[in-house]
Amino acid sequence: MPDAIIIILTVMAGLIVVGGAAVLIRSLIEPYLLDIDREILDVSRNQWSREACPKGGNLDSGDRESEGRAILRVSLFSDIHGKGLRVPITKLLNGLFSGSPDAVLFAGDIADSGKKPEAGLRILRLVAERAKAEGIPCYAARGNHDLLLTRDRIESTGFRLLENEFEIIRGASGAVFLLIGPGDSGKKSRIWPQLPGNLPADIPPERRIVLVHNPDYVRSQPDPAPYRVQLSGHIHGGQILLPFNLQFTVLRGDLLPREGIVSGFFSRKGVIGYITRGVGCGVLPLRFMAKPQITHLEIRV
Ligand SMILES: [Fe+2]
Repeated sequence: MPDAIIIILTVMAGLIVVGGAAVLIRSLIEPYLLDIDREILDVSRNQWSREACPKGGNLDSGDRESEGRAILRVSLFSDIHGKGLRVPITKLLNGLFSGSPDAVLFAGDIADSGKKPEAGLRILRLVAERAKAEGIPCYAARGNHDLLLTRDRIESTGFRLLENEFEIIRGASGAVFLLIGPGDSGKKSRIWPQLPGNLPADIPPERRIVLVHNPDYVRSQPDPAPYRVQLSGHIHGGQILLPFNLQFTVLRGDLLPREGIVSGFFSRKGVIGYITRGVGCGVLPLRFMAKPQITHLEIRV
């Protein structure tokens, strides 16, 4: 074989090894990182924006867009996955409460494959203790990994589990919102639960928020759906992003991600949905191009 070809092959092999090592190192580090994103969802105008809310900015002062509006601020996180959480707990707690939320919302997957959920329950307990000290209510949705957890066990943490039920919550503006939790039946023989039939008619769809683990839930709804906001987790931002969307087209059966809807805002059936990337890792303690995330979300109506 000519020397030139040997040199080219050697260089290419070296690049592949170095590139692979870099991806692996990044994947090992990323689960310990945390993005704290501030987002605004303007339901009445069907708009959402991150730029409108600069990090560290005070929405109460000098923000004419929020004047006279019904406002709810929530801290949203999801997908602890038991021991799959690598984000330091102090960083997680400070991130959740740095936005002065009206409520803390957890969008499911306390455990990992239902096994040894103690680590995830402990995290929820620490969050709820801090929330209680600050007078902030905490609500949780069940994830597909949480099917073996009883309601009592989840609510022993201090989080209120919303499963086929709703709760009226009040924003700092004084406005009333309806938080609805349909629940999750798990992947096997999945049934999308209906919304509770006794939703208060005096709270319009604009102020109805569905907290549901799997964002595909919106696909089960009529068009238009009887609510305008849906908050979910489950997708992990892909957790390990593969070329050509392979993790969704080959490895997972979730439908919205196959359309490219993986994290952040999306619109479907009159609903504005938001998917958080979650904070932990499922199966493998690795993340790549999908950093753990907490979202401070301001909902304006
Ligand atoms: Fe998950």
